Amino acid sequence: MSQNDIFICDSAEIEEGGKGKRFPVKVRGDDTSGFVVRYGGQIYGYLNRCAHVPIELDWAEGEFFESSGLYLMCATHGAVYAPDTGKCEGGPCTGAHLHKIMTTEKDGQIFWTPDDYVKPGQA
Ligand code: FES
Repeated sequence: MSQNDIFICDSAEIEEGGKGKRFPVKVRGDDTSGFVVRYGGQIYGYLNRCAHVPIELDWAEGEFFESSGLYLMCATHGAVYAPDTGKCEGGPCTGAHLHKIMTTEKDGQIFWTPDDYVKPGQA
């Protein structure tokens, strides 16, 4: 944990392979979103921006997993990403990565850490 960490939500809100949670971020002056999901018990955070075309992944808010619960899927052209690495394992941008956002889970709460690229957005 660092003093720059920003609260996202309570741990209980993010179930294994279930709905993710979006949070506001700013990238190069653009307001966009990041998201967290839970996979293998761990929380993973990414910028909500496909590696194919830089648009949001979720087809409905928070819906990032495809039906098997094993991959994150872009709603636009169906690129699938490994939830733990963010690597595209199939689709038009195979081998590319989602931009990782550092997260911390502590005392039943989830936080993210801004970096030089992904900065705090407007709530
Ligand atoms: S924009 Fe995501 S697969 Fe094309």
